[in-house]
Amino acid sequence: MIPRNPRFPGPPPAHGDFSPADFRRMGEAAVDRLARYLETLESRPVLARTKPGDILAQLPPRAPEEPEPWESIERDLDGLVEPNLTHWQSPGYLAYFATTSSAPAAVGEFLAAGYNQIGILWRTSPVLTELEQGVVRWLLDLVGLPWGPDGFDGQLADTASTASLIALAAAREQAYPDVRKTGLAGRPAGAVYCSELAHSSIDKACVVLGFGTEGLRKIPSDGDFRMDASALAAAIAADRAAGRVPVAVVATAGTTAVTSVDPLPAIADLCAREGVWLHVDAAYAGSAAVIPEMRPLFSGWERADSVLFNPHKWMFVPNDCTGLFFRRMERVRRAFSVVPNYLETPEGQTVREYMDYGVQLGRRFRALKMWMTLRAFGVAGVRARIADAISQARWLRAELEKEPDVVLAAPSPFSVVAFRWQPRTMDGAAADAANARILARINEDGRTFVSHALVKGRYALRAAIGNVRTERRHLEGFLAAFRAAVAAES
Ligand SMILES: Cc1ncc(COP(=O)(O)O)c(C=O)c1O
Repeated sequence: MIPRNPRFPGPPPAHGDFSPADFRRMGEAAVDRLARYLETLESRPVLARTKPGDILAQLPPRAPEEPEPWESIERDLDGLVEPNLTHWQSPGYLAYFATTSSAPAAVGEFLAAGYNQIGILWRTSPVLTELEQGVVRWLLDLVGLPWGPDGFDGQLADTASTASLIALAAAREQAYPDVRKTGLAGRPAGAVYCSELAHSSIDKACVVLGFGTEGLRKIPSDGDFRMDASALAAAIAADRAAGRVPVAVVATAGTTAVTSVDPLPAIADLCAREGVWLHVDAAYAGSAAVIPEMRPLFSGWERADSVLFNPHKWMFVPNDCTGLFFRRMERVRRAFSVVPNYLETPEGQTVREYMDYGVQLGRRFRALKMWMTLRAFGVAGVRARIADAISQARWLRAELEKEPDVVLAAPSPFSVVAFRWQPRTMDGAAADAANARILARINEDGRTFVSHALVKGRYALRAAIGNVRTERRHLEGFLAAFRAAVAAES
């Protein structure tokens, strides 16, 4: 008989779950594993070295009929899972938006899974509902937006994409009263406006809401990548003249490619004049408003009908967690509330029923990790970490400016630096191809992982700083990898 490893549980009982004692062993092993993982992060290439299909090919086609020993599951965490992770938790992670979880947030997520609260109604988890209400208030306060009947209230949605869909559904209900009953058939076509740099989630929301991609007006941006407010005004006027219904303007504060901020005051003026819903997508950059000196960049968002930002992008909680805030929340309720008899309760409207404010019924205990993280770091701690990322990005930008043939592709108001290697003698298309090769070499080097964006039609590299563990030495590693990749071009 193989001796039992006291770290791991034995076989499960024929009925019911593993015992609490076994759960303790599994959980302790998991915490050990993650601690070891964090300790060894820097020795792992940031971007997974996996070939497409590699993992799937190793999976048996059917789940095991009989229980497997926990040790063999652990062995596959070692051999199959960890070697095929792309290490978002690594300090060398500089791709897309550098999104990290943190210790308190990971613990909060784990506890939420163990408590298994499902917020279909206030009574199915009073603490889920009311912590969410409280955390919404905290987040609003953190970024300097007013809370309350004359300000905002809101929810924690999963992703920015879903949050924009919810906001635009509420805007649609406002533009077409009773559209939830009648649908859009036979009504004048609607239009939504965003800049050409807005995120693709807005296209998707327009598809889902029946405006179609043709109902989404992509307004040109100016030389600083900001929506051209006069072109927006002209587009709204042209649509009105053609009998279209302007439904909403989506302004972006922190565009995906270059983190530019649309001219929010001018757009807010226009929306107020036109009676059009203003939605502000501040998915990544919104967290920066925790720093009072950064708030002027967001000036005007307090006049929006809806605002979102993603703590899961830059406030140290794991995906998913999106703060979605509304003025006059009852407008969202009007768009979504459907209460079948089995969900009626004696509490009625005396409590917040989050099922009334979006698509989903069952809701995760998303607030727990956010609440624990804000308490464990404190607002000052969150502010210091975000300020550190911004100052590291400034340092990196200044270093890149000194590199031969490096052109900065856009301003860096937050913690993303977009740049390109462009020798004077090389034409644009050849430099595009060279930059793509440089990107591949940097990622092959393994110390860091960066991504790219098209900026004014040209290929640019993007270094996004925001990982809670990134230090100056990691950016020095990135610069070394970049220089080596450039050297390989000559
Ligand atoms: C401006 C903006 N909006 C929305 C999104 C989508 O975020 P999510 O993955 O939370 O849906 C992104 C992602 O990068 C983004 O940059």
